[in-house]
Amino acid sequence: MARHIAVTGSASGIGKALVEMLQERGETTTGIDRDAADVTADLSTADGRARAVAEVSERSGGQLDAVVACAGVSSFDPIAVSVNYFGVVHLLEGLRPLLAAAPNPRAAVVGSIAGTQPAEQAVIEACLRDDEATAMDRARAAVDNGTGSRLYPSSKSALAQWLRRAAVSADWAGAGIPLNAVAPGVVLSPMTVPLLADDAMKKVMDRAVPMPLNGHAEPAVIAAALRWLISVENTHMTGQVLYVDGGAEATLRGPEVF
Ligand code: NAI
Repeated sequence: MARHIAVTGSASGIGKALVEMLQERGETTTGIDRDAADVTADLSTADGRARAVAEVSERSGGQLDAVVACAGVSSFDPIAVSVNYFGVVHLLEGLRPLLAAAPNPRAAVVGSIAGTQPAEQAVIEACLRDDEATAMDRARAAVDNGTGSRLYPSSKSALAQWLRRAAVSADWAGAGIPLNAVAPGVVLSPMTVPLLADDAMKKVMDRAVPMPLNGHAEPAVIAAALRWLISVENTHMTGQVLYVDGGAEATLRGPEVF
């Protein structure tokens, strides 16, 4: 029987590839994005998140088999934190009751290898306290101090830390909902292709994210990993950040991480 799966960031890149893959397999999808989606909502705002939850609830009839949060922005601006952390966590928490009503519910998010890079601890701490106003204040301070480049890594590190805590809680594991992340290296999506066209920028990115196995990935590669994480077959993996990154994480963090 077709499963009903909500995908954020469905208008582009990884989310779009995932929706196409799921539809080819006969699943029912609800895409969520700023525009060109089944549900249009700005996930950087509380109103947008609430509207997305309400519309998905209506479209799904109160029962959702899976949600995958792909929407994200790579930015040196506080918006990276509001979309990549609060836009993911608040949406997932809002949709959780719909998932809990399904027979084999699953959830997955998209992290990043950037989550292992230097970050703003004060932003991460405010995120994990669910204090969006303070997180935004700290993020603006980082921009003023010239460390805006740490906001994207901060958002992805906070997301991975939230996931590690939430996944094993009564709300998620206790309700039978596996909750995992895929963390890509560099993916050839509209987020990166314009940057990679610049030789100097490509060198910077390849130094920051070395990918000895097969280089930059197509969005469908990440979509395939997400598809397995939300499949009925995944009964026991939860709280994991799956690096689908051409070996970047293993190169950068080395064997001592274990
Ligand atoms: P993309 O730019 O092709 O797609 C991102 C989608 O998110 C777009 O459709 C955009 O409209 C949507 N979005 C952005 N802000 C939104 C908002 N406020 N409300 C609703 N929707 C919004 O990028 P891509 O590569 O597909 O990125 C998907 C995820 O993968 C992101 O979370 C990104 O951080 C992550 N990622 C991407 C990498 C890459 O190299 N492309 C590497 C590592 C992680």
